[in-house]
Amino acid sequence: MEQEKTLVILKPDAVQRGFISKILGRFEEKGIKIVALKMLFVEKDRAHKHYADHKEKPFFSGLVDFITSGPVCVIALEGEDVIEVTRNMVGATDPKKAQPGTIRHDFGMHIGRNLIHASDSPESAKKELDIFFKKEEIVEWEHNQYTWVYE
Ligand code: RTP
Ligand code: MG
Repeated sequence: MEQEKTLVILKPDAVQRGFISKILGRFEEKGIKIVALKMLFVEKDRAHKHYADHKEKPFFSGLVDFITSGPVCVIALEGEDVIEVTRNMVGATDPKKAQPGTIRHDFGMHIGRNLIHASDSPESAKKELDIFFKKEEIVEWEHNQYTWVYE
């Protein structure tokens, strides 16, 4: 079974609105393994590194201001095709266009307050996990439900 990891960030709006447990619960219910989690304030430097691909975009400075505006939860998830599965659970960038049942649709109203970040490719997952976690913070553990989650 090919396992991969992805990075999720519960953005300041998700924390302030009290949705940490609801959103984390969706990943647990899905059968995805949580392998790291912590709460922190993202410093400007780290925000710039994380959003480097967007630095020329008009929304960049607003995005950096927002992600640094309050505490976030960073989470590493592990599973088969977990990068794609997580992106599908998160939904379209704009909550108004996201499908019902996705996190952004179900909790959000505005593109600038879309609650959650998830890595979009194996390359960005690796880069982003390295930005937020030291190697020893990723916990390798056996999920004893795996035989009931995967064939
Ligand atoms: P994310 O990186 O946060 O998981 O979101 P994403 O892949 O769906 O969207 P991306 O294009 O990477 O954009 C990163 C974040 O920037 C904000 N954004 N604002 N005002 C706008 O037009 C606009 N476009 C993007 C969103 O908060 C988005 O999550
Ligand atoms: Mg993105």
